Amino acid sequence: MSTNVLSHPLLEHKLALLRSVGTSTKDFRELIAEISTIIVYEALYDAPTVPTVIKTQLGRTKGTLVDSDNFVFVPLLRAGLGMMEGVLQIMPNAKFGHIGLERDDRTLELYSYYFKMPRHLETKTACILDPMLATGGSVCAAIAELKDARAAKIKLLTVVAAPEGIERVEEEHPDVEIYVAAVDEYVNSQGFIVPGLGDAGDRTFGTG
Ligand code: PRP
Repeated sequence: MSTNVLSHPLLEHKLALLRSVGTSTKDFRELIAEISTIIVYEALYDAPTVPTVIKTQLGRTKGTLVDSDNFVFVPLLRAGLGMMEGVLQIMPNAKFGHIGLERDDRTLELYSYYFKMPRHLETKTACILDPMLATGGSVCAAIAELKDARAAKIKLLTVVAAPEGIERVEEEHPDVEIYVAAVDEYVNSQGFIVPGLGDAGDRTFGTG
């Protein structure tokens, strides 16, 4: 299965607060970060580790360390930026790349206006950060760019997804693992996930 729908009472609690129309910008930002930390924790279950030996107060013992160089976290502008804080809580040395996508008003085609990745992408797992997977158009365009840039592996970390978005990513990119906190009902004619959480970008940046 390439789609992992996460389930935990604490995650559902935070998601319930996040969805509420009455949640302030401050609380929305904090909740997105907290939820993202949980999603990162789940998505990195297979992170490569290196053995180490630690001297404790009472002797020596073996341990393992995660090399954060194996990963690049890729927020999709803008809303994905809200998930960065959650990544940093669990991986303070994380590397980030950025992708900016926009829709051409005339052709309605998505085009990329910004793409900046750390070096040696071919050795790294790229974890796309975007709180909303609606039709899947944005994420599929981002995946195509990351594949062109030769990312070693790609994972999608998202908060709320619509079934049609998941279906599209699974069909076009079956090799991409999806980690999602909730799968909602459908995408409405304005492109919003229902019941969803509104426009994550606007709610994160107070532009709504
Ligand atoms: C939202 C969201 C996703 C995209 C999902 O971004 O953050 O990137 O829409 O829709 P899709 O799956 O149908 O492509 P938006 O375009 O609102 O930009 P923003 O992040 O700047 O708010």
